[in-house]
Amino acid sequence: MSQQHADAAIAAAPDYVRHTRLKEWVASIAALTEPDRVYWCDGSQEEYDRLCAEMVASGMLVKLNPEKRKNSFLACSDPSDVARVEDRTFICSEKQEDAGPTNNWEAPAKMRETLNGLFKGCMKGRTMYVIPFSMGPLGSPIAHIGIEISDSPYVVANMRIMTRMGKGVFDVLGADGEYVPCVHSVGAPLEAGQKDSRWPCNPTTKYIVHYPETREIWSYGSGYGGNALLGKKCFALRIASNMARDQGWLAEHMLILGVESPQGEKTYVAAAFPSACGKTNFAMLIPPASMKGWKVTTIGDDIAWIKPGKDGRFYAINPEAGYFGVAPGTSEKTNYNAMATLKENVIFTNVALTDDGDVWWEGMSKTPPAHLIDWQGKDWTPEDGKNGRKAAHPNARFTAPASQCPSIDPDWENPAGVPISAFIFGGRRATTIPLVYQAFNWNFGVYLASTLGSETTAAAFGAQGVVRRDPFAMLPFCGYHMGDYFNHWLKMGHRVEHTPKIFCVNWFRMDKDGNFMWPGFGENMRVLKWIVDRAHNRIGARETTLGWMPRFDDIDWTGADMDRAAFDALTEVDADAWRKELELHKEWFDKIGERLPRELALKRELVGLGLEKQAAA
Ligand code: OXD
Ligand code: MN
Repeated sequence: MSQQHADAAIAAAPDYVRHTRLKEWVASIAALTEPDRVYWCDGSQEEYDRLCAEMVASGMLVKLNPEKRKNSFLACSDPSDVARVEDRTFICSEKQEDAGPTNNWEAPAKMRETLNGLFKGCMKGRTMYVIPFSMGPLGSPIAHIGIEISDSPYVVANMRIMTRMGKGVFDVLGADGEYVPCVHSVGAPLEAGQKDSRWPCNPTTKYIVHYPETREIWSYGSGYGGNALLGKKCFALRIASNMARDQGWLAEHMLILGVESPQGEKTYVAAAFPSACGKTNFAMLIPPASMKGWKVTTIGDDIAWIKPGKDGRFYAINPEAGYFGVAPGTSEKTNYNAMATLKENVIFTNVALTDDGDVWWEGMSKTPPAHLIDWQGKDWTPEDGKNGRKAAHPNARFTAPASQCPSIDPDWENPAGVPISAFIFGGRRATTIPLVYQAFNWNFGVYLASTLGSETTAAAFGAQGVVRRDPFAMLPFCGYHMGDYFNHWLKMGHRVEHTPKIFCVNWFRMDKDGNFMWPGFGENMRVLKWIVDRAHNRIGARETTLGWMPRFDDIDWTGADMDRAAFDALTEVDADAWRKELELHKEWFDKIGERLPRELALKRELVGLGLEKQAAA
């Protein structure tokens, strides 16, 4: 431990930082990691511009052509550092059983010893940045504060887009406010005179560690996305899910959108989808022109914090201030609003560079440019594309300010949040799961969400077409025992008088020839309208084994090309497929073990009985 580094950290603190405990913590991290400099971020535009200019000079960022993308940059990562690393992500609760069967666990004392070893001197030759941030509007009663210490200027720049970052956070914290301490290092100390690499990281050693009881995050070895921008998955989901359980609220992997009717009625829904199911597209949906007067507005595309309000409803905020979205597949056709959001002030990561200093990725246009520099810095032509070599990494990202989204909701920064009328759960399922159904009641909805599954895509997990159980889309993000999490959801049904209605959707059902049966994208508005009408108890439905489903005439088909037979196929409850599905639910529940709420096992049996009745009818 070096007193000199600790003293330098405290000396560098601006006068407006009055929080002694926080300063001492920063000093202790400086003493451990031994950076060359300590810099407290103020979050200003000037600071952002300066850091970006420094990264351009060091080769970490490429400045894009300002005539094409104003004030925007491209970063290309090390090939060993391109995505979240679930197998290196740990929940270090005191007792292993509290982390549960779905999380990696290590005893906190042992993990602290390992990390102390790794962090010792790990910021040598680098600047240690102190990044104050608020998840949610500053001072909102639903928001919470974090302080991230990082040795990556790329993290600073991205955190400024993704969170409310800067000086104002210290006003909210005052002299002794609560914050979640987050420590991050790329794990690549520089020896005197050693030249830095373009994307420093540790190619062999990565740890993403959460201590749920003490609400701490430590991340080592990666500079990428959710591994390094610690406000997102680490804080807003894994640590916040622990806070939410203890404090009686919900921290969820959900988008939040508003539906405005032609009469101007506003209804907010929150929706959970596993990764790679088009969450950003749904959050920014543009209804078909034929559905005149209907409008969708965006509150958030990835995470929702939801607390009970005084009027007996749940209120939600988007704790983030930006989008860290997957670029490939995004186009004016698939997501016009996202493309409009990306016009300026964006950091792109691992996309391809065009000859005129703009960006390109697979799916942006039908015809690729004749020449590109791919995400690994190599020449690329459409011929390479034909041979299967991607110009952009499949998990390439954009970091963009939410405020630039044309569909942003006027209340997206309302500190009180927006009232939630419905929860929607969806996965990518070629078979079995109907287009849409409404749970009979809250507990049944919790059962449906607890057994949510999605087919893996090659880009994300290697094998294609395998159903991965992803309860509430929280499998990689729930920071405690999944059985306790289900129980928390059951309990939350009693916390408010007006519990939101719960729905399941599947945009990805296929026919026998492998064609999608539902057009998706803007057409999802038709399903959303039915959901909204159900949430307000003003439209009919038919009862099925799985819940309430729309009849053909319950859906607004104005201007659509859908016949009854196709709709019947989309909404069919295939009894044989469901018997198999229930077997898989049992396997999944067995994995959860003793902490599975009995209520959910009973709901599963109820569906089994329903299938028998359906077969006999
Ligand atoms: C994400 C994810 O990147 O869920 O948002 O994987
Ligand atoms: Mn996500």
